[in-house]
Amino acid sequence: MSKLLLIDDQEDVRYSLQRIFDSPDVELASAASGEEALKIIPRFKPDLVLMDVRMGGINGLETLRKIRAGNPRLLVILMTAYGTTQTAIEAMKLGAYDYLLKPFDPVKIKELIANALKAARDMKQVVSYQPLLQSEDYELGIVGRSEPMQQVFKLIGQVAISDATALITGESGTGKELIARAIYHHSHRSALPFLAVNCAAIPEQLLESELFGHERGAFTGATGQRIGKFEQCNRGTIFLDEIGDMTPATQTKILRVLQSGTFERVGGNQPIQVDVRVIAATNKPLEQAVAGKQFREDLFYRLNVVRIQVPPLRDRIEDIALLVNYFLEKIGREHQRAPKSIAASVVKTLEKYHWPGNVRELENAIRRAHVMAKGDAILISDLPPEISGAAPLPSSAGAGAAAADDAAALARQLFQWARREPKLKIIPAVERELVIQALKETNDNQVAAAKLLGITRATLRKRIEKFGIHRELSVK
Ligand SMILES: Nc1ncnc2c1ncn2[C@@H]1O[C@H](COP(=O)(O)OP(=O)(O)OP(=O)(O)O)[C@@H](O)[C@H]1O
Ligand SMILES: [Mg+2]
Repeated sequence: MSKLLLIDDQEDVRYSLQRIFDSPDVELASAASGEEALKIIPRFKPDLVLMDVRMGGINGLETLRKIRAGNPRLLVILMTAYGTTQTAIEAMKLGAYDYLLKPFDPVKIKELIANALKAARDMKQVVSYQPLLQSEDYELGIVGRSEPMQQVFKLIGQVAISDATALITGESGTGKELIARAIYHHSHRSALPFLAVNCAAIPEQLLESELFGHERGAFTGATGQRIGKFEQCNRGTIFLDEIGDMTPATQTKILRVLQSGTFERVGGNQPIQVDVRVIAATNKPLEQAVAGKQFREDLFYRLNVVRIQVPPLRDRIEDIALLVNYFLEKIGREHQRAPKSIAASVVKTLEKYHWPGNVRELENAIRRAHVMAKGDAILISDLPPEISGAAPLPSSAGAGAAAADDAAALARQLFQWARREPKLKIIPAVERELVIQALKETNDNQVAAAKLLGITRATLRKRIEKFGIHRELSVK
């Protein structure tokens, strides 16, 4: 017999939940407010609490904090109709077991509760951690209500309270840096420095000295000593962006810092000890780089302690309308004017586009449309032509799946031809599949793929850019 406590200030919600959970295996109790719940809990001793976030009196988060303080092992699931990043992250930081958006599907919620009750039984045998009881009102600016983004928010909350290394992966423009900053702002290191290093933007020879510093005379041009980023942000957080682009020597040094917290400056022999939390990001498929021996396997596992996989925008189209509104408001604020409005049909068009550049591309499109719009409303004609005009390119996921499958089948045939007749002229949608096939066939080796297709590597790269292909491969 498991005990479940339902907390909601609306009677009809309590009633419908009671009906969902009415079963001989579950003993139910309900409370109409946080205050009432706090009184019931010591008597009823529930295994699981299901609670609304917005309630009169003390709200769900505050109640959660109080419940957890007195009963660290009690599992609490929060539910709300208003999903904001902030609440989801806060809830997970406060140790909520899960976070649900209303309205919910009775079948799903039953399943979730059954799992949670099982976890509650398991919990009785394990020691739980004490969550960090602190709230932060930092405006994160991460927008999203879709299921995959809710998962991301939950992970941010969980990762933030630990010191574990986190690896954030996802296509370009999906918000990896934003997420890294969110983890930092919610971590106990938030008052200490945060430094971001873009490993791809710094020439290979300089990256090592950028990260670890160098001694005077370490190499030609090293006229003085230099303190690297790891030393500069001792006790803080370092964000290693584009981690896939490091030389083997740098990889080895990073691995050592992660394992022992020590390194030497370039040209130095004095080990330096630091305490730095590492958050890494990449838009490259690191697993493939490991398989291809360009990336150290041991370093990969060391970085991959917690993995946050950010979904591409095309897999969360329900977030597009929200993001558009968010950007319009943001732009309005920057111009100190009321935000422009946008026609529903324009939003529909935006939802159909495949967004190879993800949220960054969406933001740029909205900024451009904002400039182009003559009146107070954004119209289709204000959108960039590739978004407003062209039919969406077939992508192998989502609505165009059937068309894409056909294209893929055809491409495979064409691919056989292309081997024999490298100068073949092919329409773009098929050409895209063709390039994908060639890359797959050669394990993402661009030199080999270009050769197969009978084009130069530069042309292949242009195609990859144009069709947003590399990104698509990387999510698979
Ligand atoms: N969920 C989101 N809500 C609001 N803004 C977002 C969101 N995701 C991304 N953005 C915005 O989109 C832009 C790109 O985000 P960011 O730089 O974090 O992406 P990235 O994944 O690091 O990209 P890259 O791989 O190209 O470095 C930024 O201006 C960021 O503020
Ligand atoms: Mg980035």
